[in-house]
Amino acid sequence: MKIKYVSTPIYYPNSVPHIGHIYSNLIADVWKRAAVLMGKKAFLSTGLDEHGQKVAQAAQRCGYSPKEHVDYLSGLFISFFRKYNLDWDVWVRTTNDAHKASAQAFWKKLEEKGFIYKGNYSGWYSITDENYLSQKPEEENDNIVWREEECYYFKLSALEDKLKTFYEKNADTVFPKTRYNEVMGFINKGLADFVVSRPKDRLHWGIEVPGDESHVMYVWVDALVNYLSAIDYPNDGYKNYWPAVHILGKDILKFHAIYWPAMLIAADIAPMSKLIVHGWWLNDDAKISKSSGNAIDLDELKEKYQADGIRYFLIKHMSIGEDAQFKEEFIKAAVHGDLANKYGNLFLRLLGLIELGFGSRLPELSALKKVESCKNLEKLLEEFKQMLEGLSENPELANEYVSKFLECISEMNNCFQEHKIWAIQDKHEQAAYLYFFTDVFKKLSILIYPIMPETANEVMQFFGFKEVSMKHYDVPLGSGFFNDKPKFFPKNK
Ligand code: MSP
Repeated sequence: MKIKYVSTPIYYPNSVPHIGHIYSNLIADVWKRAAVLMGKKAFLSTGLDEHGQKVAQAAQRCGYSPKEHVDYLSGLFISFFRKYNLDWDVWVRTTNDAHKASAQAFWKKLEEKGFIYKGNYSGWYSITDENYLSQKPEEENDNIVWREEECYYFKLSALEDKLKTFYEKNADTVFPKTRYNEVMGFINKGLADFVVSRPKDRLHWGIEVPGDESHVMYVWVDALVNYLSAIDYPNDGYKNYWPAVHILGKDILKFHAIYWPAMLIAADIAPMSKLIVHGWWLNDDAKISKSSGNAIDLDELKEKYQADGIRYFLIKHMSIGEDAQFKEEFIKAAVHGDLANKYGNLFLRLLGLIELGFGSRLPELSALKKVESCKNLEKLLEEFKQMLEGLSENPELANEYVSKFLECISEMNNCFQEHKIWAIQDKHEQAAYLYFFTDVFKKLSILIYPIMPETANEVMQFFGFKEVSMKHYDVPLGSGFFNDKPKFFPKNK
């Protein structure tokens, strides 16, 4: 049986994670939770890209061996990701033996098919980007070095036509369209063979080239193969998952859109099914990164806005493909403005009215007449529910999904205000509205689970359900007493 497979990039463990890393994983996590909510089988891979010069240098700076360094950072990444309720099926580490064996098997396959040959290279190399530069940089620095070395090449030039045909036939492979155009631009400029090894005497921190212990694999080849090693390539089981949907940031598009599918085609494996390319989180117009010192403390953020609050903000505020500003005022607008004032507060008002008028006991559904005057809210809720299916297939719909949630909670508030629920004198009528809104609230909370899992769980437990599941969606609410109110989000200050 085919299992839908989504991957995130694997991160360089040269420093602690930041919000950009959390974001890539969040898109995948939201998708996986949506798929599971829809009863589908889904698989998510993520992890660390532990080889290469950048990581070796970071370890040296900290006074550790590369292995000690990556072991420590792997634990740290996992603990931060867990704090934001990010989940996965496999945590890849490229220093694991299984990954190494998989990468070597992939290399051998490329070699067998005649796509790898030995040659020499001389040119400028960027250590930060782990990449040779096409021309001499205007300014030299410690990160840009001249190199002359014996190396292995990958015959990319021989695959130019195949790659072009693939993208012409499968324009939907790259999301959004602007990135697709960029990919076609790369191809139209012509594709040259590229270097896929490094001499071991220069860089020992890598996977050995099979059959030549004087070279290690180029870290990007090693890293890209993680998408296969995560699903047990070369063992046949990988075919149950492949092809994958890859989530990545715009800075690593060329590696994923050109090198990777070309290597896959060369190894007789179908290219990935989709690349979802997101933009950057910016702090005052500069890309957030640990090295530039503009990253925001993830513990502090969580403390202030809760994991679910930040998850909601990240998905709401970035339209996939565009860059977005990471500013406190925008977080406040999302967490206080939407979640506290429109979502949590309405629920607390409902509970207050149920307490006041009905002794904290929600009236029985069978005794109530149907509310007919909130048709627009019902329509929006139905549209939102329909979108869950789309999200469970297409992670790139997360941002639209949150917009629909916001439409629903705004309309729920409008309706509540318009009908002045708190002032209705007729007890039967008021009870009917209270039930209606409480039920809408429960449904919205189930549907928002992929984005805000902790909140959804809390709400469902409050209503007496063990877990968040679509099987509870149409189940009438029990008429038990409502006592301990959920905490929700801090009210607008
Ligand atoms: N190790 C490679 C990826 C190999 S995947 C086979 C790498 N690692 S990275 O740690 O530098 O970056 C990983 C991902 O984080 C990239 O997709 C990158 O775009 C993303 N981000 C890093 N900083 C970011 C922001 N400020 N905003 C959003 N995402 C950004 O590249």
